[in-house]
Amino acid sequence: MKHKIADLDWANLGFGYIKTPWRFIAHWKDGAWNEGELTGDNRVHISEASTALHYGQQCFEGMKAYRTKSGEIQLFRPDMNAKRMMASCDRLLMPHFPEEQFIEACKKVVAANAEFVPPYGTGASLYLRPLMFGVGDQIGVKSAPEFIFTVFCTPVGAYFKGGMSPVNFMVSEDYDRAAPFGTGAAKVGGNYAASLLPHELAKDKGYADCIYLDPATHTKIEEVGAANFFAITKNNEFVTPYSPSILPSITKYSLLHLAKEYLGMDAIERDCPINGLDEFAEAGACGTAAVITPIGAIDYKGERHVFHSETEVGPVTKKLYDTMVGIQYGDIEGPAGWVVKVPLDEE
Ligand code: PLP
Ligand code: COI
Repeated sequence: MKHKIADLDWANLGFGYIKTPWRFIAHWKDGAWNEGELTGDNRVHISEASTALHYGQQCFEGMKAYRTKSGEIQLFRPDMNAKRMMASCDRLLMPHFPEEQFIEACKKVVAANAEFVPPYGTGASLYLRPLMFGVGDQIGVKSAPEFIFTVFCTPVGAYFKGGMSPVNFMVSEDYDRAAPFGTGAAKVGGNYAASLLPHELAKDKGYADCIYLDPATHTKIEEVGAANFFAITKNNEFVTPYSPSILPSITKYSLLHLAKEYLGMDAIERDCPINGLDEFAEAGACGTAAVITPIGAIDYKGERHVFHSETEVGPVTKKLYDTMVGIQYGDIEGPAGWVVKVPLDEE
């Protein structure tokens, strides 16, 4: 490793914003993206009439850069984030930012901020936030005349306090995050705006977050506010909900593959009825920020359902975590194409 590493308390980082020196920004106007550039300015100056501000015309992604034992830096499946952002753009009538340029922009941002990629072994990583939003002078409810695409980054530690220690969730019975045919499968700010109040109420009651049920019938588990849900059945099967109104988690699809191909388990997407928690030996939340967070217990209608344990991570969850994190940090060889190296300027 030829570059220096910033002097931060890496082992104790939470999931907060730390301003890093460089971000990428590109503008779309008259039907095309400009080349884009790295900028040191972390403020955006936009029209007061921007659709992003009024009508929520924006979408974003979340991905991470990891430092390997040998000091290299790598991204995990950035092509999947590029594709999911295009799907979000389709839902909100926004222009695609092409996959190749998306990955290139992410690599540039990571290379320019390489000193903020946490050292190997600290459990921390560099979180990248690609973001697109509608701007320009237009008050009518229609797609914006111009767009901004940006990627910034910030070093992060665990999203849920406790990291690999189990956390408890409550079921949100009074609020949904998405509608049956709404925008739940798109990574758009409106879904998160809808989750702020139930999240706060859950936090106030001592839970890490809440679990949402399917908005049409309130009988099946959908996902957590910022992560997908998975469980291990008592028959050692990996299951995770299938629903058109949850975010298609890249971590979840990766775990489905790893459970099958690396751990030899049956792994399927299917309904997870909230009244069927007894069939699960272990449960967890998974996502880029959450990585794999074991779920100790879920409270529903005044009853506590404990999975493996409220204090100890279950053995299958642990194996999945070690495999996933091992691939992300370069200790285990992942499936072809999952890991993308970031060339560093001085190399
Ligand atoms: N579900 C929601 C609502 C999320 O915000 C996230 C985070 O991106 C996830 C699931 C997990 O998705 P991924 O694994 O692609 O990060
Ligand atoms: C992520 O895991 O990247 C997320 O988007 C979760 C949350 C911080 C919004």
